[in-house]
Amino acid sequence: MLIKIGKKSDLKESEVTPQSLFDQRRQFIKKAAGYSVAAATLSLPFSAMAALNLNPFQKENSSLSDELTARKHVVSYNNFYEFGTDKKDPAAHAGSLKTDPWSVTVAGECAKPGVYALEDLVKPHAFEERIYRLRCVEAWSMVIPWIGFPLADLIKQMQPTSKARYVEFTTLHDPQQMPGQKRSVLDWPYIEALRMDEAMNPLSLMAVGLYGEVLPNQNGAPLRLVLPWKYGFKSIKSIVKIRFSETQPRTTWNLSGPGEYGFYANVNPEVDHPRWSQSRERRIGEFRKRKTQMFNGYAEEVAHMYRGMNLKRNF
Ligand code: MTE
Repeated sequence: MLIKIGKKSDLKESEVTPQSLFDQRRQFIKKAAGYSVAAATLSLPFSAMAALNLNPFQKENSSLSDELTARKHVVSYNNFYEFGTDKKDPAAHAGSLKTDPWSVTVAGECAKPGVYALEDLVKPHAFEERIYRLRCVEAWSMVIPWIGFPLADLIKQMQPTSKARYVEFTTLHDPQQMPGQKRSVLDWPYIEALRMDEAMNPLSLMAVGLYGEVLPNQNGAPLRLVLPWKYGFKSIKSIVKIRFSETQPRTTWNLSGPGEYGFYANVNPEVDHPRWSQSRERRIGEFRKRKTQMFNGYAEEVAHMYRGMNLKRNF
């Protein structure tokens, strides 16, 4: 399956959406609607689902055309250390995560702090389907059809004050549900953060689904970030807290290995990880390695945010 790449203005959904995705999307809508009836809690708004658009941010450059990574890999080869450090652990163990009911605390420099039920948080937003590459710092990558809404919309909803320069995200901390947290492989809870302009960039996505379905637990249900120009570890899963801050927050991987994992973590083939090269990557499901692209191929949309910064220092 080849995904044609173009700009929003050039594209009609029917020109680029493979039939199977249309079908899966309908299933997603049905499933989510059914779910809300069954569980009466995750009532993701039907009207918002119906307003799904296809990826407005794909590129014209045919060298960036990508085939979707098979769903079986997307849901079985994961990093989610809260369930173990092996790639197979999240799919095997994330069933213990209870994602319904779910609430998200909004705190810090904003006019609308509070504890929000997931459905209240997502209700105002129209969902879109976006095909984004996810490139892990471990030099593998996937191409995934995500479903979500722009992080910028959620930020506007919370009305940050003029002091808000960063946004910090926190994953659930509950070793009973997340048995990997019984081991101190990382300093729990998992925390990630963005500069405000990065968070407001139209590419930054709050994901609630993939491949036409509600997010599987191992992929970060019920709410995660997807930042396609940054190494995968910035795309934090199972978010329970969003905090606006004036100062740069401390982030989990940066604390764990400051020389290896920078705050910015932009995909950059020119800045090697101290223990391995970042110039190439293995697309999961493929044999041959391919060249890693600057900002994972999204330079046109994001490079301006880092102009003038020394990216070897600010890695
Ligand atoms: N979020 C949490 N809470 N815990 C994690 O261990 N791993 C990160 C990121 N988000 C991680 C996380 C890393 S290293 C990657 S590569 C991506 O999730 C993997 O996302 P995927 O499993 O959906 O492909």
